[in-house]
Amino acid sequence: MAGSNKANITPPRWLLAELSYKCPLQCPYCSNPLDYAKYPDELSTDDWKRVLSQARKMGAVQLGFSGGEPLTRQDLVELVRYARELGYYSNLITSGYGLTEEKIIELKQAGLDHIQISIQASTQELNDHIAGTKTYQQKQEVAKLIKKHGYPMVLCVVIHRENIHQMPEILEMAENLGADYLELANTQYYGWAHINRDALLPTREQFEEAEKIAQAYKEKVAGKMKIYYVVPDYYEDRPKACMNGWGTTFLTVAPDGTALPCHSARELPGLDCPNVKDYSIQEIWNDSKTFNFFRGTEWMQEPCRSCDEKHKDFGGCRCQAYLFNGDMYSTDPVCSKSPERHRIDEAIASARATAMADHEQPLVFRNSKNSRQF
Ligand code: FES
Repeated sequence: MAGSNKANITPPRWLLAELSYKCPLQCPYCSNPLDYAKYPDELSTDDWKRVLSQARKMGAVQLGFSGGEPLTRQDLVELVRYARELGYYSNLITSGYGLTEEKIIELKQAGLDHIQISIQASTQELNDHIAGTKTYQQKQEVAKLIKKHGYPMVLCVVIHRENIHQMPEILEMAENLGADYLELANTQYYGWAHINRDALLPTREQFEEAEKIAQAYKEKVAGKMKIYYVVPDYYEDRPKACMNGWGTTFLTVAPDGTALPCHSARELPGLDCPNVKDYSIQEIWNDSKTFNFFRGTEWMQEPCRSCDEKHKDFGGCRCQAYLFNGDMYSTDPVCSKSPERHRIDEAIASARATAMADHEQPLVFRNSKNSRQF
């Protein structure tokens, strides 16, 4: 473990426990690594309990159980109960597939605070196509059960070119299902979404039109349903403050125990991401090379180094810089000050050309057969 200046390190606030890469869905924008099939091992219940308790001791308060599909873990209720005893605010991030009323009650009794369920589209046909599984009916029923049992419900719809035209219907569906929060998350182009980008990235006109509709609906349902519209950063001219700054807030633990400052960090070269089986969360967070790699501003090159916005966006996303520029230290190419901004514009133009073509771009679905090819 490398040394670090601990005085500048704040404790993790958010722990994302990716319990399993197993998932019955095959969404072509999944943020799991393309080669997830290479990591079949999963932490034991005791390993997870140790991680939860070490992170809580350091100050983590928010806990997300995700995956893959966290419901595939037999010990989910036990882990939720343990998290409650430790004092976490816990959130289940699920496709809803396989979530029965009995399980919803069990999770409630164990102390689960919040459920975020994803729906792929407002129609059965499109939902089932994007999910690669017949899940629409069950998701609708599960959403109603979540409300029936008194959970605050976040409905998450990932937005892309295949469903962006359904924006009015998606908003109506969320209202009818009684969602407390609707997250309209424009696809972030990493992992599976990156390889499907030409098929998924909406045109600027589509994005602007959808945003207008969502904003108007926000006013209509004010006080009843909160709508978060997560903008696609390709259409911005400043980068997002990815993960609220590297190693400041978020700690992700992958199913095999690899600790990550963001979901894509495993793809970055030379980071040697540590494993919770070998080190404590405190050692990983404070002392590991991985978590110190992009902390602060020392690592920055120009134009970030002398930019007066560097404390606001932290140079943007390291994974996006690496994906586009092959240089993880470079400025996020979304930034108009980046000499590589043209790469984003070329990606937008390429997706637009695909959208205008009269043939459909086939999607690469996230499944273990496809994963084994990476
Ligand atoms: Fe890795 Fe943004 S996703 S730094």
